Amino acid sequence: MITNFSRTVPVLFGPGSSLRTGLKAKKLGVKKVLCVYDRGIKEAGVADKVVNNIKAAGLQVSIYDNVKEDPPDTLVDEGGEMARVEEVDGIVGVGGGSAMDTAKAINALLNNPPPIGRYYVGTGNKQKPGKVLILLPTTAGTGSEATKITVISDTTTQTKKGILGPAVTASLAIVDPELLLGLPPKITAATGMDAFSHAAEALTSEGMNPMSDVLAEKAIALIVSNLPQSIKDGSNLTARTNMAFSSLIAGIAFNDTMPHWGHAIAHTVGAQFHVPHGVGCAVALPAAIEFVADAVPEKVRLIAASMGLSPSEEQSPSELGAMVAEAIRNFCREIGIPSLKDFKINEDSMGRLIKRVLADDCAMFGPKRASSDQVLKMLEKAHNY
Ligand SMILES: [Fe+2]
Repeated sequence: MITNFSRTVPVLFGPGSSLRTGLKAKKLGVKKVLCVYDRGIKEAGVADKVVNNIKAAGLQVSIYDNVKEDPPDTLVDEGGEMARVEEVDGIVGVGGGSAMDTAKAINALLNNPPPIGRYYVGTGNKQKPGKVLILLPTTAGTGSEATKITVISDTTTQTKKGILGPAVTASLAIVDPELLLGLPPKITAATGMDAFSHAAEALTSEGMNPMSDVLAEKAIALIVSNLPQSIKDGSNLTARTNMAFSSLIAGIAFNDTMPHWGHAIAHTVGAQFHVPHGVGCAVALPAAIEFVADAVPEKVRLIAASMGLSPSEEQSPSELGAMVAEAIRNFCREIGIPSLKDFKINEDSMGRLIKRVLADDCAMFGPKRASSDQVLKMLEKAHNY
């Protein structure tokens, strides 16, 4: 088999590493930074720490703090306009997936004409690299700091769109587990299942490769043993460090291989009903794994082993898929992942999502294609988690 491993972005990892942000930006030649975050990060006191650190290194700082969940294209265009007017030569994104994905897309608009919609996957429009982009995750889930993709909400079609390439790839990821210490349990749980899904879907993706497999297996094992502890005791720095690492390596794992049906469903319920991405991933993943089990049983067996399960050699692929799916559902219940019913989403509305799931960019990376009926079945299972 011929496979393709991308190199990972440079990473500075470890408790306290965010205190080197200013020095690192300066070393990368930056003079004026646009710092991108949301108001929650500001209120948690994390943004000020990073901004003050950058200023202390002698750099100028402008702020874009209007980041919203499921980053709307309109706000990316607004941030891009600000970055150009302020003539910054570096972007620092601090936050969860929405803040980092917004920062990535703003970086793309520094050297490429707006609007951001011109660069969605499928448009055929290439972008030039942006400026210096530094990303600091404050959740352990998205892995966006390590990937070459950003996901933006297209507000005209209510769908999520990907943008790929160097302009949306970090020059440096600074992963400081101390930034995770104040994360509330619900967000810790949901974002942790996003990382779990990246790993499990990377392992079973059509684009799977041996490097990605190793990282994904390790990520799942770390998540299973550290996510419950991170939820129970948010100040446990060891558990937070292991989760920050697992999220990072799960991000590297899916960077080459791409996630598939679970993410296609999560993107769709996120864009349609604003279900948090990690919750959408958590409820869709078991159905996705059951669906692909007959195509990649050996990979589903690796997920089982990483979760500490011991399936017998005699189990058929579908029995194996059902076993792993149920173990993931039980794990999600244990850590308090809500169901789609908790978002007042009715099972009848699943049918009208089929086409959108099939049109999602991730749908093409499944190890097998799905008919409309098979997508509906996955959606119904996700709804009934
Ligand atoms: Fe994700």
